[in-house]
Amino acid sequence: MTASDAFIRDLPKVELHLHIEGSLEPELMFEIAQRNAISLPFDSVEQVRAAYEFSNLQEFLDIYYQGAQALIYEQDFYDMTMAYLTRCHRENIVHTELFFDPQTHTERGIDMATIVKGIRSAMDDAKQTWQISSELILCFLRHLSAEAAMQTLEQALPFKNQIIGVGLDSSELGHPPEKFEAVFARARKEGFRCVAHAGEEGPADYIWQALKLLKVERVDHGVRCVEDHTLVQHLAETRIPLTVCPLSNTKLRVFDNMSQHNILGLLEKGLCVTVNSDDPAYFGGYMNANFCALKEALSMSESQAIQLVRNGIEASFASASRKAEITALLDSYSKY
Ligand code: HPA
Ligand code: ZN
Repeated sequence: MTASDAFIRDLPKVELHLHIEGSLEPELMFEIAQRNAISLPFDSVEQVRAAYEFSNLQEFLDIYYQGAQALIYEQDFYDMTMAYLTRCHRENIVHTELFFDPQTHTERGIDMATIVKGIRSAMDDAKQTWQISSELILCFLRHLSAEAAMQTLEQALPFKNQIIGVGLDSSELGHPPEKFEAVFARARKEGFRCVAHAGEEGPADYIWQALKLLKVERVDHGVRCVEDHTLVQHLAETRIPLTVCPLSNTKLRVFDNMSQHNILGLLEKGLCVTVNSDDPAYFGGYMNANFCALKEALSMSESQAIQLVRNGIEASFASASRKAEITALLDSYSKY
């Protein structure tokens, strides 16, 4: 039986690959820019949306970094994060792990404290109001230097108890994981969990580098693993999770269309693949839209949808007791 939209809507879900700056909808971007007297390189919300046609990762990143220029104050980071968490509540996402890109902001003179406090206070409020659990992961921008990443890690140390891990994002090609080996070694020593984007536009070898050199616990995207059979076998045996983002992959032409997406094939091979929205304001949909796209293009079944959520629980950095709570929610839902 294929999953219905109502089944997907009401399924308790976990999100592990979400860039908070990529959740900033044009309406809120304009509202914040206006109150901060920042001029954006767009005249209207319609013009921003019309610009969201990408043929690769870099074309998206150029616009994504422009949109983030509106953010200045703690309140701005709070409002952006609260808008995303409100959406989580509507979509029945019960646990989420947010990426943020501090260098996009610290390069403009914004303090790490402003960013972390704004995001964290929205996370705290969503926990209080809706019992949504969440974690925060700091991403280094890989197009910048390893020295800049190390400096960013040092700026984050005072907030170590509020940031569960570090990741690696931005332009993948030409910026292999090996460039950041020393930064990740230091991050691990400081107690941060480690993840990295790899195998989105970059080759399978970048996934091996992320595993062997950065010693990541999860790979973000990772869909190009299929180009290396030994790697696919390794991922199946170790259950090292891949945080896959279907709508992102088709928007950025990693796959020409959804019917070519490999997520369900990898699921059937026993890999710990999960469904995520990446940058939902830019890619045309949040979590439920991602699940629905898999149902429409690949005839995803209800039991496959449930297994994808189970994988998300397994792959998450939630505590053992929180994982047990979410599993219980899922079990009671899937009985009916
Ligand atoms: N890939 C790399 N960098 C990013 C992405 C992505 O999908 N989203 C935001 N920054
Ligand atoms: Zn991403």
